Amino acid sequence: MVLRRVDIRDLDRVLYPKIPVVVAAEYKGRVSAMLAAWWTQLSSDPPLIGVAIAPERYTYKLILKSTIYSINFLDAAHLDKTPYLGDASERFYPGKLAKAGLNISRGEALGAPIIAEASAALEMKLFRVFEAGDHDMIIGEVASIYAIGDFNGVWKLNSYRPIMYLGRTRRPAPVKRIYATCRDFDVKELEYAPGELKEQAMKRVKVMEAVEELLKKTPPSEWGRLKPVLEELMRENNLEADDVEYYIDDARRRLFK
Ligand SMILES: Cc1cc2nc3c(=O)[nH]c(=O)nc-3n(C[C@H](O)[C@H](O)[C@H](O)COP(=O)(O)O)c2cc1C
Repeated sequence: MVLRRVDIRDLDRVLYPKIPVVVAAEYKGRVSAMLAAWWTQLSSDPPLIGVAIAPERYTYKLILKSTIYSINFLDAAHLDKTPYLGDASERFYPGKLAKAGLNISRGEALGAPIIAEASAALEMKLFRVFEAGDHDMIIGEVASIYAIGDFNGVWKLNSYRPIMYLGRTRRPAPVKRIYATCRDFDVKELEYAPGELKEQAMKRVKVMEAVEELLKKTPPSEWGRLKPVLEELMRENNLEADDVEYYIDDARRRLFK
């Protein structure tokens, strides 16, 4: 198949499909929730998630004021609620959640407003806000997680049918939002680093652990004198001498959380 050049304005459409989450927040008794497709996990320790949210969103204001919010995953059975969450603003259309037929419950850790009908929900504490371009990266730390029985260490996808978003059509009207849902998932299990990949996987962990061991035993002010030993470790494993810097940086983050 031949790749053909696509208009740069189609960037988000090329990145889709994505599973949009529902971000919910409350301040002084006023609750709002919005759909957000531009989100990602940023760190596992601490557990951080970033969501790109435009300052115009009423939910943005509520998150910044209260610093507590939730991230919710809706089943495709609730697709009919998405226009309330993604096309209507609480600022102009008060009570949109109730009008969508959605209810709020409370998280146990922070008391965050959670969508009662969600298949999974995360309670979030605001960590940092970065101005990106037309959206800000709202980074939050996960305080607690809730999920329906379909989640059993991994999603079984027997009862949970995530909503997938493919973008909206361009004007002229009528503008349409395009969603995909799946009836059946072709779930496959692949062995981790199979066959010829096994050896490098083990070597990788061995180098990481060796660097961490050495650093753990030495005060950071004296890490400089470990350089020859670490460089030797790199040589033994056929790595480049300056790989040491990256391994030190990686281990530092695990050692000093
Ligand atoms: C599928 C979908 C994904 C969306 N993703 C985002 C997003 O990632 N960031 C954002 O700021 N707005 C996003 N929006 C738009 C907001 O959900 C929308 O502006 C909403 O009305 C804001 O509500 P609020 O003003 O009550 O907070 C998305 C909308 C839809 C339908």
